[in-house]
Amino acid sequence: MNEVIQQIRSHRSIRRYTDDPVTREQLESIIAAAQAASTSSYLQAASIIRVTDPEKRSRLVELSGGQPWVGKAPEFLVWCADFHRHRQLFPEARLGYTELLLISVIDTALMAQNALLAAESLGLGGLFIGGLRNHPDGVADLLELPLHVAPLFGMCLGHPAEDPILRPRLPQALILHENCYNPDLDHELLAGYDEEVRHYYAGRPGADRVTGWSEQVQETLSREARPHMRDFLQSRGFGLK
Ligand SMILES: Cc1cc2nc3c(=O)[nH]c(=O)nc-3n(C[C@H](O)[C@H](O)[C@H](O)COP(=O)(O)O)c2cc1C
Repeated sequence: MNEVIQQIRSHRSIRRYTDDPVTREQLESIIAAAQAASTSSYLQAASIIRVTDPEKRSRLVELSGGQPWVGKAPEFLVWCADFHRHRQLFPEARLGYTELLLISVIDTALMAQNALLAAESLGLGGLFIGGLRNHPDGVADLLELPLHVAPLFGMCLGHPAEDPILRPRLPQALILHENCYNPDLDHELLAGYDEEVRHYYAGRPGADRVTGWSEQVQETLSREARPHMRDFLQSRGFGLK
């Protein structure tokens, strides 16, 4: 273990913040760290919208399903897949391929994860807000996003006003395969993990939900997964050719 790995492994989403601002220098360092991420074919197919306008923030709270931290975090960034720049530079650009959608989503996610880690290394905390995809059209309108730009998720950043315990991840043996995929789920290992997750929830203040990971997966994957996203992405010029 070194300090970087220790930092990475101490990640937990932060939803409550003090009123202390993120300084301009901190924000610049965070964005520079984001930009240092690997980028497919050097396309750098991502943009970030920093939302400082309080009215727009309030609207984003609504659009993300009423998540209060979206309004209260000192900083809120909207991370977008972006080929608008490329289209301006090269109007004949052949866009609308599924592959380009993947490239821009991967680029954006890599940048965002770098940003969150950089923020955490500065003593800040934050979290991703996929809730923006509840109403992606509303977000695109609010932020005046041109064609070929699609909001993927938001990110709250600020000084932590809470110190949550780490949320346990799956045992490595369940996610790391060697040379070929092992399709046989190790139920015994999973049962142990479910117990660990139940213990995690029981230890949280309020202990409002005490479930295992398996039950949570079942709950999540029993629901529709934002079926409007396909049409939305297509309407933004991210086709599925
Ligand atoms: C792309 C993405 C979107 C997310 N969206 C939300 C969200 O809208 N609201 C929220 O409270 N947490 C959101 N999260 C945070 C996850 O719930 C959290 O990362 C996960 O439960 C693991 O907990 P941890 O980050 O504290 O380790 C999101 C995480 C990711 C990666």
